[in-house]
Amino acid sequence: MDKGQIVDTRRAHAECPVTAVQSEYHIMWREPETSIFPTSKELGIGFVPYSPLNRGFLGGDINEYSQFDPAHDTRQTLPRFTPENLRKNYRVVEALHRFGRTRGMTAAQVALAWLLAKGDFIVPIPGTTKFSHMEENFRAADFTVAEADWQALEAEIDAIGIAGDRYPADEQAQVEKR
Ligand SMILES: NC(=O)c1ccc[n+]([C@@H]2O[C@H](COP(=O)([O-])OP(=O)(O)OC[C@H]3O[C@@H](n4cnc5c(N)ncnc54)[C@H](OP(=O)(O)O)[C@@H]3O)[C@@H](O)[C@H]2O)c1
Repeated sequence: MDKGQIVDTRRAHAECPVTAVQSEYHIMWREPETSIFPTSKELGIGFVPYSPLNRGFLGGDINEYSQFDPAHDTRQTLPRFTPENLRKNYRVVEALHRFGRTRGMTAAQVALAWLLAKGDFIVPIPGTTKFSHMEENFRAADFTVAEADWQALEAEIDAIGIAGDRYPADEQAQVEKR
């Protein structure tokens, strides 16, 4: 629900019932909680978080030394994926690892289980090229974590802070908001 698409869910839903809205959402980008969730809940519209692992970063396999294919990988253009910001933001991944260690969860599973715990109307679409990751990601739905524990994790990540914007300034200017 961005980049020049229709942004008024309520108006769209009145014209033709909307089944689901798709937008970026993960523990490092929580804007949909205020911009989309209230309308989704009120009107019974599903929410599909894309890039729920922050384009792979929350899986823990990407760091400041990662190389992105200059011809095909758009992450190299995103402020959060500069080597300096990857190094700073890796503290978020370390927090997910710490959280998961005592619960038998990988960092990716913590990221996905956190997101699933936000509501039944949420259906994330993590991308992968590996069956092992697909199975790992599916199993995120098997974990139950107390709401207070999720809140503690959110507080820890809030305290860390996120380095780098979602998009470069020229692209961000094209993102419509409701
Ligand atoms: N509507 C839109 O504007 C929009 C924008 C962006 C994306 N999308 C869609 O959203 C979906 C997912 O987005 P995305 O691929 O950008 O981001 P993502 O799901 O956040 O991350 C995908 C990356 O995570 C890695 N990964 C997956 N599972 C992992 C695990 N368990 N441990 C470690 N790494 C793991 C994958 O690498 P491996 O291949 O090595 O597993 C891949 O590089 C796609 O269907 C995409 O088309 C939509």
